[in-house]
Amino acid sequence: MTVMSAAVKPSLAAARAFNYSAGPGVLPEEVIRQAQEDLWTIDGSGIGIMEHSHRGRVFDKVLAEAEAACRQVGNIPANYKVLFLTGGATTQNDMVPKNLIPDGGSAEFITTGYWCEKTWDEAKAHFPSCHEAWDGRTVKHAFCPSDSEINYTVASPAYVHMCSNNTIYGTQFRNADGSFRYPKCPANVPLVCDMSSDIYSRPFDVSKFGLIYAGAQKNVGIAGTTLVIIRDDLVDAAKKFGRKLYTMESYATHVKGESRHNTPPAFAIYMSGLVFKWILKQGGVTKMHERNLEKANLIYKAIDDSKGFFTGHARADSRSLMNILFRCPNPQLDDKFIAEALANNMDQLKGHRATGGIRASTYNAMPREGCVAMAQFMTDFARKNG
Ligand SMILES: Cc1ncc(COP(=O)(O)O)c(C=O)c1O
Repeated sequence: MTVMSAAVKPSLAAARAFNYSAGPGVLPEEVIRQAQEDLWTIDGSGIGIMEHSHRGRVFDKVLAEAEAACRQVGNIPANYKVLFLTGGATTQNDMVPKNLIPDGGSAEFITTGYWCEKTWDEAKAHFPSCHEAWDGRTVKHAFCPSDSEINYTVASPAYVHMCSNNTIYGTQFRNADGSFRYPKCPANVPLVCDMSSDIYSRPFDVSKFGLIYAGAQKNVGIAGTTLVIIRDDLVDAAKKFGRKLYTMESYATHVKGESRHNTPPAFAIYMSGLVFKWILKQGGVTKMHERNLEKANLIYKAIDDSKGFFTGHARADSRSLMNILFRCPNPQLDDKFIAEALANNMDQLKGHRATGGIRASTYNAMPREGCVAMAQFMTDFARKNG
């Protein structure tokens, strides 16, 4: 039987806009096309991916392949577990402290943006001795701190929390060539990283971290699953210091259940698996980084060449390769920019409600043409309205 009606077949390229959404973000066209087919029947099973039992052989394979491809993309060492959880990155604000901080203990926080503020608020509410080693609010989160600006004061923190890319303010821990910059961390203290908006957009060394988490919906899939990469010795940390956790909030539960202690977000995991395989096919994270650097620089150049018409939010040394924030000379022109861009098939450019302005997200799946088109549109807009 065939169901692929003409309605789902038209060329995506013709029908779709350039999508600069900060998340859920653009997906690779190849991935969407594969998913269209597998929604009807996957792997010759006669049953669509969304209708399979999460304990059946078809999903066994989907999960195993997703994990294997994830490990390959990230070059994840054998002493780390890969988990596909639910509850979004936000749930990690709850799970990480409860699993890692003993009663009366504390952790250090490098607060570089909106999501870090939420992470800090949650940890502080439950573990009052936690400490902020950097408070980016004072500089409107315009950059990520250098090592000398990070001030650790806690004697033995359970971990240091950072966020590698600040989706809302458009800053990133980076070196001049855009490569990953690891902030200093006290010896033998695990570094915990929220990588929600730049995971697998550039190479990074997993072994520098104790725990990494990322909502999948920007660079590695769709909303519904959160990737957690956790070092073996941290999985049972809560048990070692004697905390009894609720079943679902314990990493040990999900390691034991291999990400399916209960019904997992099967379709979201399947989508992440396709995206990981797509990244490998493109040449892996090294290639992704090369492309992302070039793509983002097209847009930053349009800002820099606009003779002050556009103002970027990020300080040059912290410019994110994923989320590019800028403003026109006044908010009315921002609105005009967004409306005219939409009329030109360029969508989802409105800045977050916390910042206003314009935000162009250039995740892995954003084609180079989308960045060329944006840079050209910006140049024309500045000329006409400057
Ligand atoms: C860096 C970062 N952390 C956390 C979150 C929150 O993720 P979720 O909505 O999956 O809970 C986001 C969402 O945009 C994000 O960009």
